Amino acid sequence: MKNPCIVCNWKMNPASQKEAAALAREITRAAKSKKGEVIIAPPAIYLSTVKNEHTHVALQDVSEYAKGAHTGSISASMAKNMGASYVIVGHSERRREQHETNEQIAQKIERAYEAKLTPIICVGELKKETPERAWGKIKKQLDEIIPSLKKGKGVIAYEPVWAIGGDKKTDSAYAQAMMYRIKLYIRMQAQLITPILYGGSVNCKNIEDFLEYKDSIDGFLVGSASAQKKEITTLIKKIYGSY
Ligand code: PGA
Repeated sequence: MKNPCIVCNWKMNPASQKEAAALAREITRAAKSKKGEVIIAPPAIYLSTVKNEHTHVALQDVSEYAKGAHTGSISASMAKNMGASYVIVGHSERRREQHETNEQIAQKIERAYEAKLTPIICVGELKKETPERAWGKIKKQLDEIIPSLKKGKGVIAYEPVWAIGGDKKTDSAYAQAMMYRIKLYIRMQAQLITPILYGGSVNCKNIEDFLEYKDSIDGFLVGSASAQKKEITTLIKKIYGSY
């Protein structure tokens, strides 16, 4: 992964294949300086459409099973075969809506490694609280995935859940402190230097706040803003311009 890395998590957007191709084309154009790395994570059904337009693609989720009778699921090796090189695992929307556990997330990390995909592993606390209490929640998530994380080279995305939504109030100093702690903890527990991304309402209005801490942020996981053509192309230019 090249620094700065920008992961475009389109979530359930855009509404058609044609729009997906057009959006990917615009993003590729904005990212062409190759100063960093832009990864597009489209809905799985658009994976090959996006792959035709852009080099680095990710799946938004992957099955914890390598194969078998699991209707509706996609295996890591299938994603690899379709051209993906990354997969997002443990996103808070899946933890909440699909009741994903840390144990399943650990299995997904292992399936990703077996298929030679790099997992982008999301962690973050639900509510804004004191750094000490928030750290307790994050540490629990990390402790349960570290044995799997150690088996390969993953990327961590710190996403405070209270800041996810595209237009939520963010706190870059708080995020930076938490990311520093996460990085240090993984280094001590897993003897790994893991790249770390920030995610949660990153947009053109607040990006400067985060860029102040660019020395300790390896990139960004952008949700809502990444599915809006003008917003994401401007954001890529601002981020590339500052690293
Ligand atoms: P957001 O989503 O940028 O819309 O807050 C971030 C994410 O994808 O987790």
